[in-house]
Amino acid sequence: MPKILITRRLPASLDALDAFASVEVWPQRQPPPYEVLLDRIRQVDGLLCLLTDPIDRRLIEAGVNLKVISQMAVGYDNIDVAAATARRIPVGHTPDVLTDATADFAWALLMAAARRVVEAERLTRAHQWQTWEPDLLLGADVGGATLGIVGLGRIGQAVARRAKGFEMRILYTNQTRCSPELEQQLGVEFVAFEELLARADFVTIHTPLTPQTHHLFSDYQFEQMQSSAVLINTARGAVVDPAALYRALSQGKIAAAAIDVTEPEPIPSDSPLLTLENLIITPHIASASRQTRTKMATMAIENLIAGLQGKRLPHCVNPEVYS
Ligand code: GLV
Repeated sequence: MPKILITRRLPASLDALDAFASVEVWPQRQPPPYEVLLDRIRQVDGLLCLLTDPIDRRLIEAGVNLKVISQMAVGYDNIDVAAATARRIPVGHTPDVLTDATADFAWALLMAAARRVVEAERLTRAHQWQTWEPDLLLGADVGGATLGIVGLGRIGQAVARRAKGFEMRILYTNQTRCSPELEQQLGVEFVAFEELLARADFVTIHTPLTPQTHHLFSDYQFEQMQSSAVLINTARGAVVDPAALYRALSQGKIAAAAIDVTEPEPIPSDSPLLTLENLIITPHIASASRQTRTKMATMAIENLIAGLQGKRLPHCVNPEVYS
């Protein structure tokens, strides 16, 4: 029987796997320590991992029987895919099923930051709501504003579709320009990154983390933005330099930010970002609806089973292993 390691309890049934594999599920809430992964990887045929597991070259090379790596996430920057490809190990991920949930959450953050929902809630609970005031907690209008989408992939496009309902002007920047048909359908305008920074009232990040997007937002980029602008990040924390974000928010280079991802994760308890009133921070939950997380787990299990059976993974990030 093939052996499987699943690095956390999943919100989906493992019956299909149990039928033909011997399954170990890491039982704790915290991820398995690296040394534990290194020990287990030597014995398993399949690994189902999460974005909190650093699946590096050393680990992949130690997995002498490893036939498939299946990650329950769409992003896979924690996995050394080149090392997996070199060993012809397919790597699976979970695109599409989390697109809408993630776009919804980017919007939840955008609205919350624009209208200062979290600050308002804190003020109310602190018994500081004394009367209706003409200038209490003034935020920014969303309807009719300019939205800048950095990365117009699956999730960026879903964010754009939602923005249409708010009658926003939608700018985007992307490695490659989309087709005129798609641009027209989404009502989006392709601009250079710097132009987007200068024009957008709201900037929302939807790029994967790669060497090119690491700290894509640093001091220079915040300086290009409007002092009234709001930044939303539901992609990966390291796309934004956290020290530069602190400077931008504390010095009023931008008005506010709302981030679901940080560098590192979790955010260190002594991070100066935690002292800022004009920053909303949530614990990487953009895809965390009950339905979506179940779909992600189910898809990760399907990828795992396909890999164990020597079949092509339904959602593979390195299809070159099949050529
Ligand atoms: C979550 O961040 C994911 O990549 O699925």
